[in-house]
Parts: sequence; structure tokens; C-alpha cells
Amino acid sequence: MEYRKIGRSGLYSSLLSIGGWKNFGERLSDTESQRIIHSAVEHGINTFDTADVYGCAEEAMGRAFKGINRHKLVLSSKCYWPMSNDINDKGLSRKHIRASVENSLKRMDTDHIDLYLCHRYDENTPLRETIRTYDDLIREGKILYWGTSAWSETQIASAFEICHEMGFEPPITEQAEYSLLEREHVEHNIQPLRAKYGLGLMCWSPLASGVLAGKNLDNTLAPESLLATYSNQLRNKYLNDKNIDKARRLRKLSKDIDVPMATLALSWLADGKAVDSIVVGVSSLEQLYSNLNSIEFKLNEELRQVLNSIFPSIPKGD
Ligand SMILES: NC(=O)c1ccc[n+]([C@@H]2O[C@H](COP(=O)([O-])OP(=O)(O)OC[C@H]3O[C@@H](n4cnc5c(N)ncnc54)[C@H](OP(=O)(O)O)[C@@H]3O)[C@@H](O)[C@H]2O)c1
Repeated sequence: MEYRKIGRSGLYSSLLSIGGWKNFGERLSDTESQRIIHSAVEHGINTFDTADVYGCAEEAMGRAFKGINRHKLVLSSKCYWPMSNDINDKGLSRKHIRASVENSLKRMDTDHIDLYLCHRYDENTPLRETIRTYDDLIREGKILYWGTSAWSETQIASAFEICHEMGFEPPITEQAEYSLLEREHVEHNIQPLRAKYGLGLMCWSPLASGVLAGKNLDNTLAPESLLATYSNQLRNKYLNDKNIDKARRLRKLSKDIDVPMATLALSWLADGKAVDSIVVGVSSLEQLYSNLNSIEFKLNEELRQVLNSIFPSIPKGD
């Protein structure tokens, strides 16, 4: 397993991380979750991503981590989304962050979270209040590092400015959607911040929730698939005519050269240094093993160019 530092921090993450959304605590039994997590660790994966809002994922992952040396794990969780109808049970206020971190610690049965992310930007809370709270949590040892998720380049830049001015710990990473089907935001807006601030990048939905692995490309929605658990709106974000057309072209290429679609999509991300860790979801051990193989696969320049021609990145401003 290759390990990469998250941004300019001293924290090493496995290049492949496992995400807990919908799979752990929801689609998978405890036995299946435990098998996947233990096997992932045996194969060198150290980073596991979850969030307060991922249903029962934190509890299920906490149970599955039993028997694994905690020091070997990099646990990432997040807060922002509403956890109840209570007016203060959402966002990035000091009150909600503190409540949320305590609840996540309990659910995962651990005394610290290695990486704690702001799951979105909170327009209703002063950024300084949010950052000050994250900085306090680091000083108290409840979290070790912090980061952002789905923040704009301007929001991230403001966070770095406040940290610089106030002497707060800066965010070490942005967790952003990045895949063959979703390139522009990261390539136009986040990559420059990597160069400027040493920001890390963890990417989510690297397989577009299964579309880039060939799921649901033939006009029927497999009821057992991850995409079948999504709302219509969210499903349409991944499974729309434009994406299906491109994914079918990837499927043809995959057949022609006898390399799995998921391997092409993941090795395109793994190759080079564009990302620090790829946060993938798996619903079986077979998918885990296949993805472990995928990040070892070396794309040659010709294949990379073919992928870039099927999935072009629209130039900034077009
Ligand atoms: N920060 C954020 O806002 C945010 C948002 C979304 C996700 N995330 C994180 O990113 C993680 C991954 O995102 P995701 O689950 O949306 O997308 P993903 O990793 O792109 O897709 C996961 C799905 O792809 C299919 N798959 C995976 N490996 C495969 C293989 N080798 N062969 C065939 N199919 C394969 C499986 O679908 P089936 O189960 O249908 O077989 C699996 O459930 C989440 O768990 C979460 O931790 C973060």
C-alpha cells in the first residue's frame, strides 16, 4: 500500500481509504462490515471516513474496529448537517460542533478523532467561531487535525487567512468530489490551493457511486445497488444521460482492453500526485480486493489520454 501525507501535515494516509456512507450500518451486516474493515487494515488501509449524519455508520464502524490497534487507524468524521429538529443541532457553531464531536466519539467508542471535517460551509456562523472551536478541540486532544469538505476556494482561503492571523491550526485537507465524471471544481479551484497553502486533497465518490464501475448503465436500476438507496435528485446527479453515455464508452474501452472499469477510474486518480487519498465505498469484500488491485495498476500515457478524451475537463471560463 502506498501512503501519502495529507497536505503539509505530518499525517500519513493510505492512498485508498474506505468510506462508510450507506454501506456500514445500513446495507451491510455487522459481520460483513467487520470482515471488510479487518481485511482492509490487513492490506494496509489505515483511513476510514464517516460522518455524524451517516445514519448508523459510526456505531457500526466503531464495533468493527474492535480488535484493531487504534493507533494504526486514521479515523475521519464530520459535522454540519442537521442531526435533529433542534435549532442548535446543525451547522458549525461552537455549540453544535462540541455536541457533535462528543456524540461521534461515543458512537465510535474512541477517545479521539484523527481528522474532523466541516461537512459543508456554514453561512450562518462566523468562520472565526468555527475555526476557534476546531483549534480548541485539537488542543484538548479530542481531534488531531481538521479539514473542510465541499468548501469553495474563497472559503478555504479565508480559513487559511484567519488561521495565519490568529495562530490557529490550519485545515490540512479539503475533501472534495473528484472523479473522471467530476473534474472541473478540483482541477480549477482546489489544485491551486494545494500549491499555495499545501492543502491536502481527499476525493470522494471516485466511482461516481458505482456509475464508473458499470452500475445501472442499461436503463434499469438494480434494487440492490448503492444508487437505488439515493433520493431521485441525488441519483440523477450521478445517473444522468450525459454520465451514462460517457460511462458506456468507458465500459467499451474496459472490454476492449480487458481491464475493469473501476480499475481505469481509480488508477486515473491514483496515478501522479493529484490526490492524497481516494475515499471509496465498498459493499463487498470482492470490491475491496478489486480496488486494492486497481490502485496498483499503472496507466500508460496512451490510456490516460484516451480516458481524458472520453472524460474531458472543461477549461475554466467555458
Ligand atoms: N464529504 C462529502 O460530502 C461526501 C459525499 C459523498 C461521499 N463521501 C465519502 O466518500 C465515500 C465514497 O463515496 P460513494 O460511496 O458515494 O461513492 P463511490 O466510492 O464512488 O462508489 C461506491 C460504490 O461503487 C461500487 N463499487 C465500489 N467498488 C467497486 C468495484 N471494485 N467494482 C464494482 N463496483 C464497485 C459499489 O456500488 P454497489 O454497492 O452498488 O455495488 C459501491 O457501493 C463515502 O462512503 C463517504 O465516506 C463524502
